[in-house]
Amino acid sequence: MTKKIAVASDHGGYELKLEILKHLKERGAEYEDFGCDSAMSVDYPDYCIPACKAVLEGRCSRAVLICGTGIGMSMCANKIRGIRAALCSDTFSARMTRMHNDANALCMGARVIGAGLACDIVDLFLDTEFEGGRHITRINKVMDAENL
Ligand code: RB5
Repeated sequence: MTKKIAVASDHGGYELKLEILKHLKERGAEYEDFGCDSAMSVDYPDYCIPACKAVLEGRCSRAVLICGTGIGMSMCANKIRGIRAALCSDTFSARMTRMHNDANALCMGARVIGAGLACDIVDLFLDTEFEGGRHITRINKVMDAENL
C-alpha cells in the first residue's frame, strides 16, 4: 500500500495545513494536497470527501484533515463508509487512536491547537501501529454500525 498522506483543509485550516505540509516534506513523507488553496471561505466537505476517497481507494494510506475546530472535518469524514476519523488535540489521543481504533484519518482544529503541537500529533499518528487483537472485534462492531 502507498505511504502517501492525503492532506486537506478548509479556509479555517489553511495556514496550519501549510505548516503541516512543510513538516511532512521535512520528514520525507510523501503527500497529496487536496486543497483548499487559500484562506478564502469554502465548504470543508468539498475537500474532506476527495481526501477520504483517496484513502478508501488506496491511493493514500491516511488522511490529515484540518478545519477551524476539526469538528466539521471529523463529522464529514466519519460519515464516509470505511473511514475512521479521530479528532485530536493532544498527543496521547493521537497515539491511542492508532493503537486502539486503527484510525485512518486525523482531524485537527487550527483554531484550537498551535502548529508545534499539530506536527507532533501528525508524527504520532503516522508512526504508531495498530495493536490489533481485541480491538479488531470492536472496530468491526463500529464498522457494522454503518449498516444500521
Ligand atoms: C469555518 O468558519 C469553520 O466553521 C470550519 O472551519 C470548521 O471549524 C467547521 O467545523
